[in-house]
Amino acid sequence: MEQELIQIKEKALAAIKAADDLTVLNEQRVRYLGKKGSLTAILRGMGKLAPEERPRIGQLVNKVRADIESLIEEKQTALKARELSDRLATEKIDVTLPGRKRELGHFHPLTLTLNKLKDIFRSMGYSIAEGPQIETDYFNFEALNLPKDHPARDMQDSFYITDEILMRTQTSPVQARTMQSHEPNSPIKIIAPGRVYRRDDYDATHSPMFTQVEGLCIDENIKFSDLKGTLTMAMQQLFNDDLKLRFRPSFFPFTEPSAEVDISCVMCHGKGCRVCKGTGWLEILGAGMVHPRVLEMSGYDPQKVSGFAFGLGVERVAMLAYGIEDLRLFFDNDLRFLKQFC
Ligand code: FA5
Ligand code: MG
Repeated sequence: MEQELIQIKEKALAAIKAADDLTVLNEQRVRYLGKKGSLTAILRGMGKLAPEERPRIGQLVNKVRADIESLIEEKQTALKARELSDRLATEKIDVTLPGRKRELGHFHPLTLTLNKLKDIFRSMGYSIAEGPQIETDYFNFEALNLPKDHPARDMQDSFYITDEILMRTQTSPVQARTMQSHEPNSPIKIIAPGRVYRRDDYDATHSPMFTQVEGLCIDENIKFSDLKGTLTMAMQQLFNDDLKLRFRPSFFPFTEPSAEVDISCVMCHGKGCRVCKGTGWLEILGAGMVHPRVLEMSGYDPQKVSGFAFGLGVERVAMLAYGIEDLRLFFDNDLRFLKQFC
């Protein structure tokens, strides 16, 4: 057994000296000192020895273990030092290399237009409201005086999720949501920007997904002239000071009277061109005085308060503001187009 121990020690020391990296070194540690290692096996066999032999062999085993351990430690320190100096040598940083340029993104033209509109209306005392894009039939239609089977629903064919849930076709449901979250008859001045969805064509001026900004102003004594003044000021700030607005009689079930609003063509200033199809005018939004039924359904008393509302198509406005001739460019994600708005 003594002989065996000396052999183990020699083999172990040689193997440790030869180990060229930390993994191999660790393998040797396990092989000689581990639970299933050679030294442990010797210790287990001690029971077979004569009792007077045990202390001597025991001491010898401990001595051999200590020798192996200290050599492993020494070797480990050396290997770690070598590894570090190798890394320092190979991972040198060349501080004279040019830096990596990080490309800065920028806003999409629709976002730029939305931000301008928000700033303009905020400066007139409006706050920003939001509503869900997945909307109930109740808020999208019924609360806006469009009962089931009302023929005006045909103008806004929707994408239905169930009979009662749909992708909203307009931002107008935010009108009812806002009124219902307010104390009845308390004043409201909000705009509600967001995406809307319709079964519509995808062409130069239409998309099945587009963006609207809803406006709602309710208080005592709000009149049609307030609507005219507000929209005129907002559009003049967005385009230019001599922009003209034209209100054409129209129909929406949730406003009475209703109007479609055109602006004088920003390309030809009203002379008539390709963009305005020779008319000198461009339609950008729908508006009107909030229908008494709509006020009532959301808990407001039409005898005490009145209000106006409007819904503006942001793509159309952005096209005019930037001179873009095809609405689809907004959604194509072509960098050659988008980079022009840096
Ligand atoms: C409405 O959606 C009404 N909710 C507007 C309204 C609000 C009236 C409040 C009264 C009171 P209309 O369907 O006309 O109305 O759409 C409003 C604007 O959205 C249009 O003037 C147009 O600029 C834009 N628009 C409509 N359909 C599309 C489409 N498919 N693609 C891009 N823009 C569109
Ligand atoms: Mg319209």
